[in-house]
Amino acid sequence: LLWTILALLAAYLIGSVSFAMVASRLFGLEDPRSFGSGNPGATNILRTGNRKAALFTLLGDAFKGWLAVALAIYLAPVAGFTDTTIALVAVAVFLGHIYSFFLNFKGGKGVATAVGVLFALQPWLAVATIATWLIIAVFFRYSSLAALVAAVFAPFYYFVGGMAAWPFSMPWFLAICFLALVLIVKHKKNISNLLAGTESRIGQKKKN
Ligand code: G3P
Repeated sequence: LLWTILALLAAYLIGSVSFAMVASRLFGLEDPRSFGSGNPGATNILRTGNRKAALFTLLGDAFKGWLAVALAIYLAPVAGFTDTTIALVAVAVFLGHIYSFFLNFKGGKGVATAVGVLFALQPWLAVATIATWLIIAVFFRYSSLAALVAAVFAPFYYFVGGMAAWPFSMPWFLAICFLALVLIVKHKKNISNLLAGTESRIGQKKKN
């Protein structure tokens, strides 16, 4: 149990590292919480027009999600982690990003981090989910809409794939459902903007 608690704490702290904040310092940008959507995430960093910083944010936030879960899977045999432990680590790193220890328990919306988590759980699931994101993003040019649609499909993909192509784990399925649900709730403002037609499109820069 001690190892499990330590793993969850470590995952939460890894998730708490906001790469949007790191990128804004590294690339000399404004605090992402002060412009655009105010969200510390890759989409909002892109609104500065700095693509490199946005890519850095995307990869960094995805990497930490992957790292926490991949480490838990790797250490499972020695530390005695079950599928449930790994599922909880996935939840912990994701919640770390959204309720960051370093940002007064505020944070991002979890899209990139969730993708990293999916990569560690099942790479093909991540590929299918990213493909879904890309299709919506290319056609509609809304990052948030792409994330929302991908979030709805990810649990479904995991379930179908689990029946046909890879070993199915119930705790992992529940974790994926939980991530999708929290992600959707965190996009409340985006959903109302989309419905009102005021959501900014990908490539549109900040106005201030
Ligand atoms: O990554 C979050 C994205 O789906 C929406 O970001 O800044 O438009 O709220 P943003």
